[in-house]
Amino acid sequence: MGKILISYYSKNKGNNEILAKLVSTLKSSDLERIETKKNKGIGSIALSSLIGIGSKIKPPKHNPMDYDALLLVSPIYMGNIPLPAINYLKFFNRKVPKVYFLSLCGSELTTNKPVMSIKKAAGKTPEKVLVLPIKNLCDIRENPKDIMNFRASEQIIRDSKEFTRLRDFIDTIK
Ligand SMILES: Cc1cc2nc3c(=O)[nH]c(=O)nc-3n(C[C@H](O)[C@H](O)[C@H](O)COP(=O)(O)O)c2cc1C
Repeated sequence: MGKILISYYSKNKGNNEILAKLVSTLKSSDLERIETKKNKGIGSIALSSLIGIGSKIKPPKHNPMDYDALLLVSPIYMGNIPLPAINYLKFFNRKVPKVYFLSLCGSELTTNKPVMSIKKAAGKTPEKVLVLPIKNLCDIRENPKDIMNFRASEQIIRDSKEFTRLRDFIDTIK
């Protein structure tokens, strides 16, 4: 089995942190938390992601090239991957192994913007992408406020109809 690094960014409700930690347990992988130098609020991160300026990150602890694959776990804000996650990929100057992308976010991807952003920042197209839309994890009305306020837990993810899809996805990461 290949050695996998799971690098995650999570800000709004910690949902992608919970997801990344669950996957790292299931896969016995190392975990890297992507952190910005300045501790900003969600509004500031969303704005910086929209305009593509700011969100400098702290130097990562692990080198992805020591691994066979890199799994990036991150939310989608304003239709794209948050800038700290993009800046994380850029940090390695395209020296990264195979990349996979996993997201717990509001809805299925409606554009290929997130995938294109990964391709531009990492220098390679993700091998595989899995998006877990919040409405598939719980009984929730599909309005932006409820979606943004949703807080995941490991149990919610394990009990959801998406758990099989998640397991299948992580089994393909090698
Ligand atoms: C400012 C903001 C913008 C968002 N924009 C999107 C979006 O464009 N598409 C989407 O699917 N979800 C969107 N969401 C929902 C988040 O992806 C969702 O809340 C996610 O689970 C947050 O992950 P986190 O708690 O790990 O930060 C947005 C949430 C916030 C707070």
